[in-house]
Amino acid sequence: MCGIVGYVGSSLAAPILLDGLRRLEYRGYDSAGLAIHDGKQIEILRTVGKLGRLSEALRAHPLQGTVGIGHTRWATHGRPNEVNAHPHVAGGVAVVHNGIIENHLALRHELESDGVKLLSDTDTEIAAHLVNRALSNGCSTLFEAVRHALRQIQGAYAIAVVCASEPGVIVVARNASPLVIGLGDDANLCGSDIPALLDHTRNMVFLDDGELAEIRAKQVRIETVDGRVVQRPPKHIDWNPMMAEKGGFKHFMLKEIHEQPRAVEDTLRGRVNLAAGDVAGEEIGLSAEVARSITRVYFVACGTSYHATIAGRYWIEQLARVPAVVEMASEVRYRDPVFTPTDLVVAVSQSGETADTLAAVKAARAQGAKVLAVANVLDSAIPRLADASLYTHAGPEIGVASTKCFTAQLAALLMLAVYLGRRRESLTEERARQVLQALIEIPNQMRTLLGQAPYLLGIAKRFVNATDVLYLGRGLGFPIALEGALKLKEISYIHAEGYAAGEMKHGPIALIDENVPVAVVCPRDSLYEKVISNVQEVRAREGRIFAVATSGDSAIAELAEHLFLLPEVREEVLPLLTVVPFQLLAYHVADYKGTDVDQPRNLAKTVTVE
Ligand code: M6R
Repeated sequence: MCGIVGYVGSSLAAPILLDGLRRLEYRGYDSAGLAIHDGKQIEILRTVGKLGRLSEALRAHPLQGTVGIGHTRWATHGRPNEVNAHPHVAGGVAVVHNGIIENHLALRHELESDGVKLLSDTDTEIAAHLVNRALSNGCSTLFEAVRHALRQIQGAYAIAVVCASEPGVIVVARNASPLVIGLGDDANLCGSDIPALLDHTRNMVFLDDGELAEIRAKQVRIETVDGRVVQRPPKHIDWNPMMAEKGGFKHFMLKEIHEQPRAVEDTLRGRVNLAAGDVAGEEIGLSAEVARSITRVYFVACGTSYHATIAGRYWIEQLARVPAVVEMASEVRYRDPVFTPTDLVVAVSQSGETADTLAAVKAARAQGAKVLAVANVLDSAIPRLADASLYTHAGPEIGVASTKCFTAQLAALLMLAVYLGRRRESLTEERARQVLQALIEIPNQMRTLLGQAPYLLGIAKRFVNATDVLYLGRGLGFPIALEGALKLKEISYIHAEGYAAGEMKHGPIALIDENVPVAVVCPRDSLYEKVISNVQEVRAREGRIFAVATSGDSAIAELAEHLFLLPEVREEVLPLLTVVPFQLLAYHVADYKGTDVDQPRNLAKTVTVE
């Protein structure tokens, strides 16, 4: 995820900005840059790779000013290269930005038809041109020009802007991406995150959505985009740097579980067209012709991403009515599989670098199949090899156990199913709209569930001494049973198995007794009655049940020892909610056991070997 730092004061800005960016390094980035105002003009330095490269560039070309903005970029629009690195410049304006400008394509066309020559592939450069145009068209201050530009921008942003004609000023704004202002004695700062500012001040003002601020060395003015003056007292932050990196959470994994509403929102951003009951084709990169001509969707993936593809298969079959298969990439690569030119191979990978998935993609391509990558890391190996890419925008995931990338993958795959269904006329506009509406509501429903997280602490205590746990689910609950079990075993080292509930009586039922907790995905969906029968079979053998169920379900309340309740939602979107309590359960069990939650033994975040 990108990082922003800004400084206005009397010390040299560049080293302060570099230090601030270093404090954000843990979040991951692929390029970095600075814009420094030396009192007369703005100078820019941008480098690809780690901050050491920016530091070297700075030594070779020192920047002298006492006002500046800095950025570490984690690519979302455009490859990670120097041209796409921030700051972006238009006329005398330099901008750094976090987030996604939803209407960037429309704005790009509009600017180009106005004669503007855009140099990068980024959405950020567009913001720089909008501010510059507003200044050229008569806005008298940078503050007003930024306000004018923001009125044209839709989407998520935290931006910091400097301008050659106004030394001593940084203008910042936020909508759905964090932006914090740090109040110093003779200097003020801004940043996307608290750790970037902690060395300089602990007094911080947090901007709200729809607000912008003018930051000078001794004064900060905040207004809403609509012109209302905002008076907000600073908060004193007493976090240590380690706590600050984790946003106050004990582990990155817990932070990332709580980031899921935003990860899903960002993945949906600018892609869903509710009015048309459709998904934007240019974001998926598959032409309508290809969508209509494919005869099979063949998912390949590993681990958690593989679990997402099982849900993807169900959605593709239900909504797009295309035969779909799912296979672990490690099996595909050595099985001498048969692909055809009318296959759409969908390779799902958080990192985009997993060796087995990459090998499966190569095998598919060699036989002429079309490949769509669903990845979280822009320009990683799998998207580079694919014919098209649908990126999840979960931001970098640091915890080895994948959480927010999983729910972002689910959102992407459901959008893919809708896109294919609409092109193939197997899905009506009305049903597509209902599914997309339900999907858009998920982030807020997740927020509500996360608010109930403390309830799982007590349940987790009951699991700590278990040696084996069985997870059961059917239909769209099946991949969640697999994922719940994987999360528990990865971080708590408790043996756990996920099973299709209907398969239980073909073997695993032999395991059940009063010592084996059974976690069941049991929302009120079309398979509810079937799952309840399985739950009764478990109860009959003294099994202790933890069920994730729908609020108001009295039948499951009588059978289960512990319940976690969900709101009633459309069946198609259920996996995005049902997985959350299982992630939290695994987290709290592991935390009670005192394991290394973020870096569990024997596991690597990216598996680039067989
Ligand atoms: O980067 P990928 O999504 O391709 O990674 C696949 C698996 O290695 C990954 O999901 C792994 O299972 C995680 N540790 C799950 O938490």
